[in-house]
Amino acid sequence: MRVAINEIKEMKQKKEIIVMLTAYDYSTAKLIDEAGVPLILVGDSLGMVVLGYDSTIPVTMEEMIHHTKAVVRGTKRALVIGDMPFMTYHTSISDALRNAARFMQEGGAQAVKLEGGVVVADTVRRIVDCGIPVMGHIGLTPQSVHQLGGHKVQGKTPEAAERLLQDARALEQAGAFAIVLELVPAPLSKLITQTISIPTIGIGAGPDCDGQVQVISDLLGLFADFVPKHAKQYAKLASAIRAAIADYMTEVKSGSFPTAEHSSTMDESLLEELVHH
Ligand code: KIV
Repeated sequence: MRVAINEIKEMKQKKEIIVMLTAYDYSTAKLIDEAGVPLILVGDSLGMVVLGYDSTIPVTMEEMIHHTKAVVRGTKRALVIGDMPFMTYHTSISDALRNAARFMQEGGAQAVKLEGGVVVADTVRRIVDCGIPVMGHIGLTPQSVHQLGGHKVQGKTPEAAERLLQDARALEQAGAFAIVLELVPAPLSKLITQTISIPTIGIGAGPDCDGQVQVISDLLGLFADFVPKHAKQYAKLASAIRAAIADYMTEVKSGSFPTAEHSSTMDESLLEELVHH
């Protein structure tokens, strides 16, 4: 059985810290699932770390569904959340419902995530009313990067902090089961976490959230273009991959790979018959 949203909500009551990671492919999702991580987000960050776009804005539903299917195939226990791409839930409630349903029916996800607070609260309510669990996302919302003027910490003035608190309350009232807080000052994250009854999952939001999420490519040191301040590299896969590729090139060029161990044999007399034929 997969983790259910009520188990995630109960973790807040029990003060059990919630661990969440992103995944975009079968093999990585399998490793994350086997490690016991309860929440896996197929984040639209895949636009940057997998597809090489310079923001999450170009990511399409087709790309998200394609990767969600792979992650679902790699997992047995984790709750898989599909990240709704830019403009797939703003144009109308029926568009939002149709796209959320695609994540469930075609992608096989168990929940969706979308960015925004008060502004998307009615949409969240309608999606939840249709039986689709929704995770909110406030603070730095990367799909609004041009409106926000860059990847900046949000909620630093009293007015902005008050707006974020209202956004969190609106999502809670709309029926969201959890909220991602991205690039929110630690004291404000703490206040939001203490104020609402649903779990907060932080990224660059300090230690007092109910849980933490990281982009898997940042955590593994795989995304070499830049390292966000909030990320900690638990491995250096980019360097390991560079070294492995260099070793492979050297061995192929020198003839030391492949060896007999990597090759198969046959009765060579058959080849002689072929040559003399
Ligand atoms: O797309 C993503 O990976 C995200 C996380 C940073 C929460 O939204």
